[in-house]
Amino acid sequence: MINVSKLKKGIVIDHIEAGHGFQIYKELHLNEIDDVVVLLKNIPSKKMGKKDIIKIETDLELDMTVLGLIDPNVTVNFVKDGELKSKLQLTLPQRVKGIMSCKNPRCITHYEKVGDIDFYLVDAEKKLYRCEYCDSYTTFIED
Ligand code: CTP
Ligand code: ZN
Repeated sequence: MINVSKLKKGIVIDHIEAGHGFQIYKELHLNEIDDVVVLLKNIPSKKMGKKDIIKIETDLELDMTVLGLIDPNVTVNFVKDGELKSKLQLTLPQRVKGIMSCKNPRCITHYEKVGDIDFYLVDAEKKLYRCEYCDSYTTFIED
């Protein structure tokens, strides 16, 4: 078993469903940060069988809200001075930028380059979001 040491500072994203670590890595744009990042894949877990873990040794305050949409079951741990300081309880984000596309085929976002689209939560149970451009509803579906 490969050993990855405990963090002095930073963020540990734990209990990621096995195979989904790389999606989270991409959505958080971890390729763009200069600090140490470790993606552990297929770690044996009593609860989950196998899981992925991401460790980020950083002072940066990364926005973890998008994780509530991708996988509300992950645990986000914040570490400071070598100690676990807090665990984040994830919820569906009120606003999602960039990771969804509009389901309305006539929406302007399919015809013009508009950049990242904002979606606003309208129904948490159904994971329904409203497009900022055409106001039609889109559900987030994981791939
Ligand atoms: N961790 C770390 N560096 C630290 C403290 C913790 O990398 N300085 C990591 C641990 O290795 C673990 C995660 O953060 O993967 C959560 O730590 P902890 O809450 O101590 O572990 P558990 O009790 O197993 O967490 P849970 O109850 O959420 O399963
Ligand atoms: Zn739209």
